[in-house]
Formats: sequence, structure tokens, C-alpha cells
Amino acid sequence: MKKLRIGVIGCGSIAQHRHLPEYQVNPNVELVAVCDINQERAMEVAEKYGVISYTDYNELLKSGEVEAVSVCTPNYLHAPISIAALEAGLHVLCEKPMATSKEEAEAMIAAAEKNGKKLMIGHNQRFVPSHQKARQLIQSGEIGKIYSFRTAFGHGGPENWSVEGKEGWFFQKEKAFVGAMGDLGVHKADLIRYVLGEEITEVGSFVETNAKDFADVDDNAVCVLKTESGIIGTLAASWAYVSKEDNSTIIYGEKAILRLEDDPINSLVVQYSTGEVVKYELGKIQSNDAGGQSNSHVIEKFVNAVLQDQEPAVTGEEGMKSLEVILAALKSNETKQIVQVR
Ligand SMILES: NC(=O)c1ccc[n+]([C@@H]2O[C@H](COP(=O)([O-])OP(=O)(O)OC[C@H]3O[C@@H](n4cnc5c(N)ncnc54)[C@H](O)[C@@H]3O)[C@@H](O)[C@H]2O)c1
Repeated sequence: MKKLRIGVIGCGSIAQHRHLPEYQVNPNVELVAVCDINQERAMEVAEKYGVISYTDYNELLKSGEVEAVSVCTPNYLHAPISIAALEAGLHVLCEKPMATSKEEAEAMIAAAEKNGKKLMIGHNQRFVPSHQKARQLIQSGEIGKIYSFRTAFGHGGPENWSVEGKEGWFFQKEKAFVGAMGDLGVHKADLIRYVLGEEITEVGSFVETNAKDFADVDDNAVCVLKTESGIIGTLAASWAYVSKEDNSTIIYGEKAILRLEDDPINSLVVQYSTGEVVKYELGKIQSNDAGGQSNSHVIEKFVNAVLQDQEPAVTGEEGMKSLEVILAALKSNETKQIVQVR
């Protein structure tokens, strides 16, 4: 098979932990170029991977060297860079949250359609084995009617993760647009939609900055969600779970309770109403904690979608629907009202 020529824009943590290594080991990829406004970082990463470095993404996009790019920059640049890449005739894998507004997300989707190029959003939680298995059990009817859920994603905050640290963009509203709710909450909004196979229709929330006095974005959020069939649940996103990451989801159904990523060994535990307990050891979830990182499958799915001309595993529309849950949560917090999604 022909190799796909790839460029990675933004050479920070997610590029270094996930995109670059996963492209490098993909036999169908030729990693060609990287770009970062920080020249030293761009050159360092380029040297490590034996590729060309750019400091201006427009130069990379018009170079003719690449057929597809990963967009791994701060959130406010996702839409402008993705749209520029699609307009330049390149396929795009964009990190989450896909954009900072519904209008931006729509413009990204329109640019992909207009140019006949793939747009995929990096919602890796879908590909975690326990999450896949839970979706399968629910869709098959094994768990019966689903009543409620609680899902959480929290850790100590991105200051120990981002290459920019505590002074960095994650904490600046004009670059991040949203804090823990957009960084972590959007993952769980996407996961719940995916695992339940239903849309979220109503959102109520508290979105606070109560842990990090240097942040001008939220660092703690708790939401209540309702789906189209009436499943109700909570979603918590936090940068202030100071001593241990929580990435767990519990789903309460008619015939069983599913505990996902709630036990350090058994990534899925199914507690049936009959008393039977089935434990699945399915491998680790990707995590910022040391040792947690494994193949996210995001990169290989993007590459396969391009090379086989198939719909990406997480389309722009899917990314936008998950973003809309976050936008509704922000609006609910502002207006102190329950917000209808769509
Ligand atoms: N899917 C996931 O699980 C996951 C995990 C972490 C981060 N992310 C997302 O990935 C994106 C990047 O996050 P990160 O953790 O790598 O951040 P980071 O702070 O570690 O790196 C960001 C990089 O972007 C570079 N950059 C800024 N402006 C640029 C420009 N105009 N052109 C090129 N490069 C530019 C910075 O210099 C920096 O090197 C964010 O949107 C974040 O939400 C996703």
C-alpha cells in the first residue's frame, strides 16, 4: 500500500506522547514534517524523527510535502489550522475539543466536505477496550434498559503535562477557551454518547474555578445530563483530583451495573442483578500517569480512513455533538438554567 505522508502541527505533549510515536510505528505512514512556533522544540522533535521542521504552519500546508496533518496545537487554533489544511487539500486529524464554538465546528465540517477530505477528531476514549465492550453489551440488550450513569475525568491538572507548564495556554481563556470541562469533560461527553448510543438532550451544570488561583478558566465542573430516552447521569471534570486520576464511568441498567475503569486490574466489571459478577481484564486506558499510555488507535484509524477512503471513526459531526454538550454546560452555568442541546 502507498504510504501516507504526514505532518504534525504543534510539537507539545500530545504530539510527543501519542501522534508522533504512533505515526512512526505505523507501516502505512511516512512521517515527513513537524511544525511548532517554538523553533527549538520544532527542531528538536524534527531531529528525533528525522523529518523537516517548520515554524509557520502555512509554510508546511503549502509545501506540497504532506497529504495529511495532525493538529496538536492549543484549542483556539484547532479550527483555523484545520480549515487552512483542508482548503490546502490535506486530510486532518484534529485534537479535542474540536473547536471553541459550534460555528467553528460547522466551518471545519463544511471545509472537509467542500474539499473532499477527511476530518477526524481525536476522541480516543471510544477506543479504550472496556468502553468498546460496554457499548457492545448495552447495544446487544444484555444490560437491559439503561437508567442512569456517572462518569468522571479528573487529575491534578495540565501544568505537569503541557510543555508550557503552569504559565501555559491551558490556563489562558483566550487560547484554551475552556478549562477542565473542555480538556477532560468533552472526553466523557463523547464517551457517554458513544457507549449509550444516544444523544444528550439536556444539561445542567456548575462550572467553577475554585482550585487554581492562577487559572482564568474553569478547573472543576459537575454536570447533570439527560439523554433522548430519559437516561440521567452526572459528568464531573476536574483539574483538582490532587493525588490520583479518576477516569471511571458507572452505568446502571435493568439487568446489571457496569463499572468501567473503576478497578485498577479489571477495566470492566459487570455486576448482574442475579449476583453474578463478571470481571474483564482488557488492558489499560490512556492516561497522563506514568505507564498508562498505550496505543490509542486514533492514529491508525485516521490513517486507515484516509488510505481506504472510508468515513473516519470519529467524524467532525461527532466531534461537534460532543462539543455541544460542553457549550450547553457553560451556558447552563452562566444562566443558572437547564439548557436544551440543539
Ligand atoms: N486526546 C487526548 O487525550 C489529549 C490529551 C492531551 C491534550 N490533548 C489536546 O491536544 C492539544 C495540544 O495539547 P498538548 O497537551 O500537546 O499541549 P502542549 O502545551 O504540551 O503543546 C502545545 C504545542 O503547540 C505549540 N503551538 C502553539 N501555537 C502554535 C502554532 N501557531 N503553530 C504551531 N504550533 C503551535 C506550542 O508551542 C506547543 O509546543 C490540545 O488541544 C489538547 O486539548 C488531547
